[in-house]
Amino acid sequence: MKFPMVAASVLLLASARVAAELLTADKAEADINTVELQRVLWNLNKIARDNGGTRAFGTPGYKASLDFVLERLQKRFARELDTFVQPFTWTFDQTLNISVTGPEGENVFVVSPQYNPATPLPGGITASLINTPVNDATGSMCIESQWDGIDATGKLALVKRGTCAVADKLKFAKAHGALGVILYNQLPGTDYPTPTLGAENIGQLVPVGIIPLEVGNAWIDRLKANENVVVNLLVDAISEQRESWNIISETKAGDPNKVVMVGAHLDSVQAGPGINDDGSGTAAILEIAGSVKKYKGFPHKIRFGWWGAEENGLIGSSYYTAKLSPAEADKIKYYFNYDMIGSPFPKYEISSYNNSGIGPKLLQDYLVSKGKTVEFSDFDGRSDYAGFVNLGIPVAALFTGADAPWDPCYHQACDDLDNINWEALTINAKAAARALAVVANSLEGVPPRLLAIRVSD
Ligand code: BES
Ligand code: ZN
Repeated sequence: MKFPMVAASVLLLASARVAAELLTADKAEADINTVELQRVLWNLNKIARDNGGTRAFGTPGYKASLDFVLERLQKRFARELDTFVQPFTWTFDQTLNISVTGPEGENVFVVSPQYNPATPLPGGITASLINTPVNDATGSMCIESQWDGIDATGKLALVKRGTCAVADKLKFAKAHGALGVILYNQLPGTDYPTPTLGAENIGQLVPVGIIPLEVGNAWIDRLKANENVVVNLLVDAISEQRESWNIISETKAGDPNKVVMVGAHLDSVQAGPGINDDGSGTAAILEIAGSVKKYKGFPHKIRFGWWGAEENGLIGSSYYTAKLSPAEADKIKYYFNYDMIGSPFPKYEISSYNNSGIGPKLLQDYLVSKGKTVEFSDFDGRSDYAGFVNLGIPVAALFTGADAPWDPCYHQACDDLDNINWEALTINAKAAARALAVVANSLEGVPPRLLAIRVSD
């Protein structure tokens, strides 16, 4: 009598397992947990620590991050996911050394932006400062007319930071004869982020050193008293082509003509380990991949993208979307972007555009059910959704805030494991898992691709 009973319970178990194999929003949500997200971010943080404090494009920390994600996708998830590495090249730049030496020979605190051109070496530029007007309303030295009558020939221009891109100020400075720019920060203290000048501006700019507001103000006082303030700026930088990689991984299951996609960037800035920006999104979608691979029966293919060189100007995701044929773009029915979803003092901001369909509502409903206040914004081109938006693909994104008060460690060395609000990250990853599960099952509320704004087909 014993044997048939065992057989019956095995049968019961087997049928219970079949039932568990359907992907639902509830199951995807339940599979996401804080401890596993912490495990991923612990690993990314350690990768940065072991590789000079960064996971940036062109550095060994990026390659190690890539290998970490690939280990899961290609070893642990290989049975259910097909994974591809997509190579591309871009200009790598690194400031090896920067110094600003004041009139008394004193060393001044200085930050170098990405793509800062080198000064002549070994001596750098030693020149008199020329003061430039401040206009906090329009931004200082942001528009051509503000430079009218300024001859900075042979000098270092002293300019206030803020409002427009640093590169704009440097272009004008070059046009007006300056050898370089000493840019003083617009807020007090030394806790300021590193901007980028953009690889597209290579060859058009003068070197710059970004110094504290307090030092800038002290030098302005001396210039106003007609003193000749002589300063040295030295920038030693390298600029060369380097290879990098996106990871594309998709479920074997699901209709290849109806693909729902989710992405996050895998690189950090050079200044830090990038645990919130964007370890948070990377960890969320990696955990979601670990969830969906357990299920079958969803009609649409699920595709994950980990983008390279986002911090260099959305390079990896733009490469991916630019390479899509119109037919391949048509197959991508939805794209969700997760960039900075665990800010220490989070807001819950859902970004969208006029072809986002049901995506924002799916994210909103869950966040609201957890008692969160949701804000809405239009896409501003600052993350990897941009290439998908250009193709007219329906897109939604979630974001918990960069800079103070949301993330005071944005683009800084302190964007580490202590820079995460674990409750926010967990809730957002669960919201992302739910939204993906819903569209993997049904495209109700998902609009067709907007063909009117196809710019690159
Ligand atoms: N995660 C950040 C910033 C961000 C801000 C994302 C707002 C989403 C909404 C992103 O990695 C970043 O730093 N982007 C750059 C622009 C990019 C084109 C180099 C930025 O905002 O300066
Ligand atoms: Zn980011």
